[in-house]
Amino acid sequence: MQEMRIDTRIKLNNGVEIPIFGLGTFQTRSGRETHDAVLYTLQAGYRLIDTAAAYGNEEDVGEAVRKSGIAREEIFITTKLWNTDHGYDRALKAFEKSLNRLGLSYVDLYLIHWPEGGLRNESWRALEKLLSEGKCRAIGVSNYTTQHLKELLKNSSTVPAVNQVEFHPYLYQKELLEFCNLHKIQLEAYSPLTKGRKLNDPKLLKIAQKYSRTSAQILIRWVLQKGVVVIPKSSRKERIEENARVFDFEISDEDMKALDSFNQDYRTSWDPTDVQ
Ligand SMILES: NC(=O)c1ccc[n+]([C@@H]2O[C@H](COP(=O)([O-])OP(=O)(O)OC[C@H]3O[C@@H](n4cnc5c(N)ncnc54)[C@H](OP(=O)(O)O)[C@@H]3O)[C@@H](O)[C@H]2O)c1
Repeated sequence: MQEMRIDTRIKLNNGVEIPIFGLGTFQTRSGRETHDAVLYTLQAGYRLIDTAAAYGNEEDVGEAVRKSGIAREEIFITTKLWNTDHGYDRALKAFEKSLNRLGLSYVDLYLIHWPEGGLRNESWRALEKLLSEGKCRAIGVSNYTTQHLKELLKNSSTVPAVNQVEFHPYLYQKELLEFCNLHKIQLEAYSPLTKGRKLNDPKLLKIAQKYSRTSAQILIRWVLQKGVVVIPKSSRKERIEENARVFDFEISDEDMKALDSFNQDYRTSWDPTDVQ
């Protein structure tokens, strides 16, 4: 396996490179909490920050990025189009608002947050326009099932660069991963720590003990070894550090298979399966 580091990047289908590891900011409170978490994260070597219009913390993310003193082009910022902003004109406006809140001249990745029925293809045309204008370096989707992706691929010549979905051993979306790999859509794992809910599962703890690691580190490393981008969230300094200490060990093939078998289609977030 190719050696991975905290700043290892993967080439997306349009040539733009995305860090394999980053920080999630859902439910990180706006103001000091987000500002400090992002700043600390960047100091700890993270280079990808995931936010969204819906998280209400874009301003704080932008401020911390500027304050970090790290060159803008070294940091990869993702934000997302919220469900009430679908449609061509609305999506363009929503993007400008996000950009203003972030206080940046471009974002690295703009995602459709949810495959809203009826309007998602209109919104995708807006994202294509933003991409052509250089306002975002890559565009993608989130919570898209293979059905939603097939529809998009039929309607557009722009293949999404990324699909961000819930992905961890308890929701091992193997078919979706294979579909995305086949079409050169990079999968990105949200809620990789199951929002903390499975960290005390005895089966997981047993594997963690074997490697002298925490459950959180095993879950993150499993995602990385699948070739999937991972964005664990924490607003605590010690956990931000802990979650990044996953580049100095490797899970064996045998234990990867054991972790694969944990799948129980367990979701901690919304389920897009029946969205038409
Ligand atoms: N596109 C979408 O629809 C979507 C949906 C959900 C999430 N996301 C993105 O993915 C990111 C990650 O997902 P998530 O926030 O849902 O869940 P997560 O990363 O699986 O888990 C976050 C939770 O685990 C805790 N935690 C973090 N590190 C820990 C550690 N080492 N040990 C024990 N507990 C730990 C955090 O608490 P503390 O903060 O107190 O440490 C928080 O409660 C989000 O922040 C967001 O950026 C996207």
